[in-house]
Amino acid sequence: MKHNGSREWFDRAQTVIAGGVNSPARSFAAVGGNPPVVVQKGEGAYLVDVDGNRYIDYLAAFGPLVLGHSHPHVVEAGVRALAEGSLTGTPHPTEILLAEELCRSIAGLQEVRLTTTGTEAVMSLIRLARAYTGRNRVIKFDGSYHGHSDAVLVRAGSGASTAGAGDSLGIPPGVMHDVISLPFNDLEALRNTLTQIGHEVALVLTEPIVGNMGIVHPEPGYLQAMAAMTHEAGALLGFDEVITAYRFHYGSAGALLGVIPDLYALGKIIGGGLPAGAYGGRAEIMALVSPLGGMFQAGTLAGNPLSSATGLATLEVLRTTNPYPRMDELARVLETEILLSADRHGIDVSINRAGSGFTLFFGVDEVKDYRAAQKADSTQFAAFHRLMLEQGVYLAPSRFEAWFVSAAHQATEIERTISAVDYAFSRLRG
Ligand SMILES: Cc1ncc(COP(=O)(O)O)c(C=O)c1O
Repeated sequence: MKHNGSREWFDRAQTVIAGGVNSPARSFAAVGGNPPVVVQKGEGAYLVDVDGNRYIDYLAAFGPLVLGHSHPHVVEAGVRALAEGSLTGTPHPTEILLAEELCRSIAGLQEVRLTTTGTEAVMSLIRLARAYTGRNRVIKFDGSYHGHSDAVLVRAGSGASTAGAGDSLGIPPGVMHDVISLPFNDLEALRNTLTQIGHEVALVLTEPIVGNMGIVHPEPGYLQAMAAMTHEAGALLGFDEVITAYRFHYGSAGALLGVIPDLYALGKIIGGGLPAGAYGGRAEIMALVSPLGGMFQAGTLAGNPLSSATGLATLEVLRTTNPYPRMDELARVLETEILLSADRHGIDVSINRAGSGFTLFFGVDEVKDYRAAQKADSTQFAAFHRLMLEQGVYLAPSRFEAWFVSAAHQATEIERTISAVDYAFSRLRG
């Protein structure tokens, strides 16, 4: 497989874009440091690079592309919206339709405010929780990634941990003081912290199923107990469902697990591949958001007609075609076959799967928190990543990310992937 075009484009990128990438998670620094593949276009379940190489895509652009690339219904909605004016700076029917659909399908979401990114959604959710409770401190969990606003970069996961920047430079000590990061799935740690400083805590923020230290499930009862303790302390519970909403079923992961938070952050899938985020929750809390209340938050591009149209079209396809059982089944087949192949070749791996998303960890038996995820073998992952790429399978370039099966994947792609994995494992062994 030739990568000359990628190399040339990336050389150019490095002279004008910091590190050659507009988001660190796209770099190949954690998988051997080769230039990343420069992608020309996406087609269904495939990425096509500037050299014409085709890859089965398990990145899904880090989550949004649940329908794969360029689904006809989404393209049609986007083209129509663009032709009718992509930005009006006024209220617009499409953003209202999207907000209605979100409130209809996300349990406990009575009112919403659309933003442009997931980062803004979480940042605003935190401000709102502080405004509502009159308290400053936030509890989050090690290895979770909630975007790149100051507060949530304290011991963050995903691209931040891949880049070795769990605590970023440039964050004022006061911000660090107000954020407490605890191990996920550790009720004792949460209980102790809330006992000591619960009266100062505005918000307990978590992904209900973690996507950013690899996929990590909450232990049975963990989220229920978290909700009870949080409320007992007079704090709000916030679910960051930027990855999880509409990934596992048509709604929130919280609803699947039987826990409804006070506030949600949404993103990724709700923009259908264009920039979009949202935060919201109980109407009584949302009443604090300007212009109704004194918590200020705004956005020139927020709820823009173009992102709203592609987001709405994506949700329509998900709601009317229900691709979830098929996606989950394909991911289950992948999981089973990867584990069998690993066993055959004597490669030590474990898999955490939630529906159509899963993470393959090398050299660890069980991952329930960030500490265990960090023990996953990065050298072996890097070699595996390279071997898969050379066989036309694109995986996220980090051992902390997920493989996402989309509605565009068919049995053929799954079979080809299983063969590629088997070959990669045989080479790792040799
Ligand atoms: C759980 C979660 N929250 C928030 C964000 C930030 O979203 P965005 O990249 O759209 O700012 C991400 C991005 O990966 C995420 O995974």
